[in-house]
Amino acid sequence: MGVWKKFYQNTKYNTTAKLLIEAVKYCKNKRNALDIGCGAGKDSVFLLKEGFRVLAIDSDNSVAEFIPTELLKSENFRLVIDSIEKFDLTKYRFDLINAQYSLPFISKDEFFPCIYRIIDSMSQDGIFVGQFFGLHDSWNKPTAKETFLSKKQAVNIFNNLNIIKLEEFEKDRPDASGRDKHWHVFDFIVEKNQQFARG
Ligand SMILES: C[S@@+](CC[C@H](N)C(=O)[O-])C[C@H]1O[C@@H](n2cnc3c(N)ncnc32)[C@H](O)[C@@H]1O
Repeated sequence: MGVWKKFYQNTKYNTTAKLLIEAVKYCKNKRNALDIGCGAGKDSVFLLKEGFRVLAIDSDNSVAEFIPTELLKSENFRLVIDSIEKFDLTKYRFDLINAQYSLPFISKDEFFPCIYRIIDSMSQDGIFVGQFFGLHDSWNKPTAKETFLSKKQAVNIFNNLNIIKLEEFEKDRPDASGRDKHWHVFDFIVEKNQQFARG
């Protein structure tokens, strides 16, 4: 069984990410939401209940086996199996972008262009909520495929946006496969307000 399948089985009954519940309180509009790396769909279920139309994307085609049937049947939910790097976001504007523990899995060479495309797809007053992995993370080895950032790099991503919350933490807790892991994580809630302009 692949590593993610085990993760989906373990998380499909999990409650909504607390950080997402907090972020939704800052949403001025609740039209379209993007759930990046939706996994078993626990956060998409919450977003749908909050009244959003949800576009959920995941690069692993086994997620459909774990996402609740009522979600898959909902006309306000669309699942796309693709990597976020390849998916064309240009025609979308999202009032909320949720990326719970998914963005660090974007490869280093694709990472920054992809993140900027994600930010561009936020609507005015839109909210981003998600994480990046820090340099002290025990997965941060020269051969690692994931992307790890310094605090400065992480903060600079949101240059010109309003950082509502930035929390950095380190802890020792097993990963999805039960292997020991030192986590170094930056939690973000960010708003694209009126002053936003890339430049
Ligand atoms: C740690 S899991 C988190 C799943 C879910 N967000 C949650 O909190 O339960 C990471 C998810 O991101 C997906 N993923 C990894 N890289 C991705 C990419 N480049 N594009 C889209 N999804 C990706 C994986 O398939 C996996 O479902």
